[in-house]
Amino acid sequence: MVILVNPSILESSFIPDRLIARDGEIDRIMETVIKPTRNGITTNLILYGDSGTGKTVTMRYLAREIRDPYVIYVNAIAYRYVKNVLIDFLSKFGIIVPERSSYASLFTRIESLMKDQGKNVILVIDEAANILKSDYDGLYYLFRSKDSFDVNISTIFVVMEDPTILFDAKIRKSYGMFGEIKFRRYTKAEIYQIVMNRAVQSLTDGGYDDDVLDYIAEVSAEYGSARVGIDILAKAAHIAEYRRSPKISFDDVRAARSMISPFVTESKLASMDYEDLIVLLAVCRCLSTARFTDVECVSRNLGVISEQYGKKDINLYERIRRLENNGIISSSIEGQGRGEGVKKVISIYDIPISVLTEKIENLLNA
Ligand SMILES: Nc1ncnc2c1ncn2[C@@H]1O[C@H](COP(=O)(O)OP(=O)(O)OP(=O)(O)O)[C@@H](O)[C@H]1O
Ligand SMILES: [Mg+2]
Repeated sequence: MVILVNPSILESSFIPDRLIARDGEIDRIMETVIKPTRNGITTNLILYGDSGTGKTVTMRYLAREIRDPYVIYVNAIAYRYVKNVLIDFLSKFGIIVPERSSYASLFTRIESLMKDQGKNVILVIDEAANILKSDYDGLYYLFRSKDSFDVNISTIFVVMEDPTILFDAKIRKSYGMFGEIKFRRYTKAEIYQIVMNRAVQSLTDGGYDDDVLDYIAEVSAEYGSARVGIDILAKAAHIAEYRRSPKISFDDVRAARSMISPFVTESKLASMDYEDLIVLLAVCRCLSTARFTDVECVSRNLGVISEQYGKKDINLYERIRRLENNGIISSSIEGQGRGEGVKKVISIYDIPISVLTEKIENLLNA
């Protein structure tokens, strides 16, 4: 029994014809960045908000719809430097440059490219948290590119964190003024509309009814995330197909909900630094065949992994505390019995360890 006839509509790479409930945000981006850039005025913007609030799809939608200026979207999830972003940006125009290129030569290329094209450019850097937090030199070149290299380029950074947490006052001063736009969480009614719009395009007519979509919206509203809604819809359709039903039931929705990990998103991992990821990988190694683990096991694995990735002197206790605060790992204190003292027990509940391990390794090896 096939219910999901058009699966690509529910994939995260899909960009819909129109966005729901983001008109205000799009207007502000038009007024603060797109129109000024069209007229040769360079501005910078930070767009932030929780996972699944439509930051990425909105920017990719604008990159598709806006012809002047060019809106170039780069996903920096695997990048640590502005330089990587610029190289990626040039490659989108078929220009391949060596990794070792200097900023001067990169901006010279960009300048002649923009002259050829006769249009200004907005560079959208998605998953920009790591770059904003650590690549001061690269950002300096980017923000001074007008004065130093005569390149007029506006930038939109996309992150999850509130910018006030992301940089301290000193950095703020040296980076200069930024506009900010927050993407708020979606309401249940908005998620309902988004999920309905996708269901119409991807499922058989008899595969769902309004009540089921309403239930999906209700379950997802806790996270305010359109991604959670769409993921549950896709999974629920598969589950219904698997039990050979022509229609998604409430229980299919519950089963789908139990399978997704709304808290462990790519963005969340990308916003963690290198050392956090290394420690998390060590935790995963310990948990690959066990229900829970302890600091001793993590420490043993950390030795091997940190050597492999060339990082020494990691403060394990501090890192574990950060991962706990982040909500990725859970821990509890257990008595060892008979005066043996207590011990910290570590576990991960929200995501299969194999999936998490692969995601971390992709980031570390990038
Ligand atoms: N307003 C909207 N209208 C239609 N679809 C939307 C809307 N907002 C989000 N979506 C869909 O929801 C999913 C998640 O959105 P998106 O990837 O843009 O979230 P995000 O804010 O970038 O999250 P993250 O911080 O985790 O990267 C995507 O499939 C996207 O197409
Ligand atoms: Mg995103």
